[in-house]
Amino acid sequence: QSGRFTYDPGFTSTASCESKITFIDGEAGVLLHRGYPIDQLAEKGDFIETCYLLLEGELPTESQYQEFERAITYHTMVHEQLNYLYRGFRRDAHPMAIMTGVVGALSAFYHDSTDINDPEQRMIASRRLIAKMPTIAAMAYKYSMGQPFVYPRNELSYAENFLHMCFAVPAEDYKVDPVLARAMDRIFILHADHEQNASTSTVRLAGSSGANPFACIAAGIACLWGPSHGGANEAALNMLMEIGSVDRIPEYVQKAKDKNDPFRLMGFGHRVYKNYDPRAKVMQQTCHEVLNTLGIKDDPLLNVAMELEKIALEDEYFVEKKLYPNIDFYSGITLRALGFPTTMFTVLFALARTVGWIAQWKEMIEDPSQRIGRPRQLYTGYPERPYVGRGER
Ligand code: SDX
Repeated sequence: QSGRFTYDPGFTSTASCESKITFIDGEAGVLLHRGYPIDQLAEKGDFIETCYLLLEGELPTESQYQEFERAITYHTMVHEQLNYLYRGFRRDAHPMAIMTGVVGALSAFYHDSTDINDPEQRMIASRRLIAKMPTIAAMAYKYSMGQPFVYPRNELSYAENFLHMCFAVPAEDYKVDPVLARAMDRIFILHADHEQNASTSTVRLAGSSGANPFACIAAGIACLWGPSHGGANEAALNMLMEIGSVDRIPEYVQKAKDKNDPFRLMGFGHRVYKNYDPRAKVMQQTCHEVLNTLGIKDDPLLNVAMELEKIALEDEYFVEKKLYPNIDFYSGITLRALGFPTTMFTVLFALARTVGWIAQWKEMIEDPSQRIGRPRQLYTGYPERPYVGRGER
């Protein structure tokens, strides 16, 4: 309708919802956000612009961009009392456990002031979450490091602020490298939204009950943590470190093909893409840029990753099952080079995906036909049968 195309790949019966936000053609390896190809958004735009596009449906004009960026920047601080929540976690708690807890706790600060039926309050809640996720994520990292929290700085961009909050220490000045900040910003764009993946479907289902957006995003974070989903970036890097060298690759490729072996090549395969994940291409380019900027030559993990990709793409098992690298395959090497521990990789995924979750939640709430989600089942249990007393069993 209205010049927009309605793409029906023939699975309308299994489609969980209609949406105008993100389009994926898994066979062709195409990903569009509001019609714009992901590689163009990543190369020519920035994350704040992508956030505006996902939320509002159009690329912002200059004045819309400035207003939106300012609104996000001036909401990056969190309530000072939230700091005490971190102290309830063990120092070695996984940062994703902290994120799930702290983001859920935002409900306690904002729940009673968020009427989800009021567009103005939906916008405030959306901007609060997008603005505060980097601060909450950086605080989780600092807490796990035993270092003091670093406050956001309003003169820094979204990505610069996040890197500054993670890596600055009171003992000395920290200057954010603009090339690394640009890479971080591009990584956020690549992770921003991805149609009805498991965690987005979780957010939609939670939101369909009328739950507040902070609780819905916490549910999305919990789902994203799984190693088959957002946890794959951490698992993929751990896998590359376990393989360790190029000559051990055939052994692991064999394991991945063995139906009796639960091992899978992490960062490979996808529920929808049966072609190269377009995000993985941009991620690989970004990986090379970051390593070059940092003067890291001949990174052994990148060598293993590139040789593994080459072997897998020529292996008949992977070709027949259409298994290609996905976004998680190169992201871990890049994030590790930027200075993050593997336990922070999925936290960064959640940070970036918050805008996608919020945009999808907003689209659902604003759909007048929307009702509470209620998936049904195919019952395969016992037919009705009479109760048997304990003495007769
Ligand atoms: C993300 O949905 C999204 O959009 C998610 C995401 C997003 O942005 O939100 O894109 C982010 O989660 C990316 C995926 C990250 N996960 C991983 O990299 C984990 C490793 N990948 C696999 O676990 C797997 O590919 C899944 C979970 C991603 C998909 O699982 P499926 O649906 O079982 O995989 P498939 O339909 O692609 O599988 C086809 C066949 C199966 O064998 P058969 O049952 O047909 O005999 O290929 C096999 C699978 O067993 N297979 C693999 C494999 N992935 C699938 N075999 C070895 N190694 C793998 N990685």
